[in-house]
Amino acid sequence: MTILTQPSILPSANDVCWCGSGRKYKRCHKPLEGRVQPGKVSPRRSVPASIARPPYADTGEVVRWNEPAIKSPEIITRMRHAGAVAAEVLRLAGEAVKPGMTTDEIDIYVHDLCIERNSYPSPLNYMGYPKSVCTSVNEVICHGIPDSRKLEEGDIVNLDVTCYIGGVHGDTNATFAVGKIDAQNQALIDATEECIWHGIEAVKPGRPLSDIGRAIEDHANLHKLGVVRAFVGHGIGEQFHTDIQVLHYYDSRNSVVMRPGMTFTIEPMITLGTWQHKMWDDEWTAVTADGTRTAQFEHMVLVTETGVDVLTGGPGAVSGKSPFTKPSSTKSSFTR
Ligand code: MF3
Ligand code: CO
Ligand code: CO
Repeated sequence: MTILTQPSILPSANDVCWCGSGRKYKRCHKPLEGRVQPGKVSPRRSVPASIARPPYADTGEVVRWNEPAIKSPEIITRMRHAGAVAAEVLRLAGEAVKPGMTTDEIDIYVHDLCIERNSYPSPLNYMGYPKSVCTSVNEVICHGIPDSRKLEEGDIVNLDVTCYIGGVHGDTNATFAVGKIDAQNQALIDATEECIWHGIEAVKPGRPLSDIGRAIEDHANLHKLGVVRAFVGHGIGEQFHTDIQVLHYYDSRNSVVMRPGMTFTIEPMITLGTWQHKMWDDEWTAVTADGTRTAQFEHMVLVTETGVDVLTGGPGAVSGKSPFTKPSSTKSSFTR
């Protein structure tokens, strides 16, 4: 097989492509310019037998059961621990992000950090997912598979960490700068972090879930940013994903009422352009349809009697608390 490499001087859009196809550059290789290309995925890594595994770990098959939406205090205690473990692993993984590092190296690091903390990296073999963390670079919205691609200065990368420990999952993600990034990319990351916290602050018992999407979408609109619709927040607990869906845009049909003891994630994916997505042939990697960059943050939250408790937040977390100073009348309850 011959691998053609892109020349250093590129044709104009309407000129013939450099690859010899005879087609116009804009109809041939131009759309790939500056886009993330899939690399090589290394063999599956193993988890020591001493670590408790979720039911899908060996088969890759996820069999759903009817898990109560409202968790007992005892389960909440375990979820708080799983959340804290995931938050710490995410912070450490984010601190390791450097230009030149491959996303496979990030996977190895996250895999080992999970194991050292006696947790199973939840993504591994979840519906056949081949790796222990999702690494989503630039225009990749979510579920990017760690591979041989090296991170480049100016990239942005979302790391989505989920740890299974004590029979429950803790799920959290954040978007990190690779080296120095430009102002537009930084503004996207900042606005996305603001979006998640607007969503978190909309969590209140007695209110419908749609309040969360409304708060997120309003803030994205203010910055003229897109809100991805195809991927949503989810109920979580003993199962990675339960049937509660948390939309990140407003839809009156997202009408389930929040109740104390409910646990779910809020994980807005915000883009510089369209809300629409495309899927790579690997059937995991979701990218923006227009190739614009996209960022995401995720927290796992508990609805309390008075507001919200961020189970993946707190001092050790990447985005552990609200970036806003709030009037006391709208204060939520954080226990950490
Ligand atoms: N952690 C992701 C979420 O927030 C799910 C990843 S599923 C995987 O829901 F299979 F891709 F790992
Ligand atoms: Co996640
Ligand atoms: Co999630």
